[in-house]
Amino acid sequence: MRISNEEDRVHILDDKSNVLSVIRNIVANNNQEEAFYVCDVGDIVRKHKIWSAKLPRVQPHYAVKCNDGLIVLETLNSLGVSFDCASKGEINKVLDLGVDPNRIIYANPAKQASHIRHAEATGVSKMTFDNETELFKVKKLFPDARMVIRIRCDAEEAQCQLGNKFGCDPDTEAPELLRIAKSLGIDVIGVSFHVGSGCREPPVFRRAISASRKIFDFAETLGYQFSLLDLGGGFPGDKETSIDEIADVINVALDDFFSDLEVQVIAEPGRFYVSSAYTLACNIHSIRNVTQIDEETGELAIHRMYYINDGVLRFNCILYDHQVVNPVPLKEHPGSKYYRSSVWGPTCDGLDQVVEQVMLPEMKVGDWMVFENMGAYTLPVASPFNGFPIPKVQIVMDESIWTLMKDIIQFQNSHFEMLALPPTSEKHEKCYELPSFPIRIEIPGNPLETHILDYAME
Ligand SMILES: Cc1ncc(COP(=O)(O)O)c(C=O)c1O
Repeated sequence: MRISNEEDRVHILDDKSNVLSVIRNIVANNNQEEAFYVCDVGDIVRKHKIWSAKLPRVQPHYAVKCNDGLIVLETLNSLGVSFDCASKGEINKVLDLGVDPNRIIYANPAKQASHIRHAEATGVSKMTFDNETELFKVKKLFPDARMVIRIRCDAEEAQCQLGNKFGCDPDTEAPELLRIAKSLGIDVIGVSFHVGSGCREPPVFRRAISASRKIFDFAETLGYQFSLLDLGGGFPGDKETSIDEIADVINVALDDFFSDLEVQVIAEPGRFYVSSAYTLACNIHSIRNVTQIDEETGELAIHRMYYINDGVLRFNCILYDHQVVNPVPLKEHPGSKYYRSSVWGPTCDGLDQVVEQVMLPEMKVGDWMVFENMGAYTLPVASPFNGFPIPKVQIVMDESIWTLMKDIIQFQNSHFEMLALPPTSEKHEKCYELPSFPIRIEIPGNPLETHILDYAME
């Protein structure tokens, strides 16, 4: 394995190395104590190959909310993937990569006014809605927006249901909303849905595509010519999962319901692209042994409580995304007895339990545990609660990918560190937003001289 000169944080894999061997090297060589992630760029590239092969008609718009790491966005952009943004901050982040605004869908049905204005100013014109308030807002703030109606169609089983919050009823609400849109002169161009994140019921995509077709037909009676179908997210992304079944359902449903129409079909996959690309390594900093009655045998037995330096308040996928994580000891423990164990995060919150029950060998303070499939809904929602730093990211990629990427990507700290706040692009802020209150401006180079300027409100 060769380590590149990007401050030892980009690791180039050869045929003798892999993510785990990189982690072993880092903890052996670097006096490492803090928890860290490893992002395998090759995994993201391989996911895109799978998507293109299985869903050739569907243009992916990566859901930035899932993991807005710069390396993820740059890799996907270089593969030609488009983007789903939910806010001004996400729009800025994607525009900063040089992405054409036409490759962005602003897929948040409940938008703040200033974010709608920002979408207009930056040319991001495709956006979703599911209620009439949004239509009136858009009429006032961005009358030329191209709107996409989001309908509700929930999977019977999903890791994270979204229908309780978003999506209008396709039968009882959508027709009326489209009539209102028509009367306001708003351009509605298509239908979107999200069946639920981590969908475990593939046939739901057929129901949703069929419901969408009915809305296409109804819209035609109002004089609309819909041209966009957005399948949302819901595609699994862990190592042991596959999108084959969902892809089969989608491809057949598109043939059955949309073969007679010229329609652009897009989707908003999030976890599919990033979940398996990230592995988290955590250090055990404390252990408590408690004697408990074993539920199976009824006898007294030792239960080992391991305290590690990352937890549920930081890799929030457990609380926010209902994920079950699986700790694996980094080194082997030959001959060790296995104990009933629990794993706890570093904060003082009793909620910060990573795993309630797991059989683990006898591990020591300073040993490492790794967690696979940690790329989705982890880092962007991490909190530095109790003063514990958010883990940094180390990047690995195959030699062949490094050869292609090294001239495209200018590595900076932001590739390896997740910021607590969404970055705002100076460029976009200055060009497109007028401050609406008296504003304090500091003159660069002369910090003592401060001016208060009063901007007229529009
Ligand atoms: C509007 C929208 N699109 C896409 C996604 C991504 O979903 P997934 O990660 O299941 O692909 C989400 C997730 O919350 C979402 O809210």
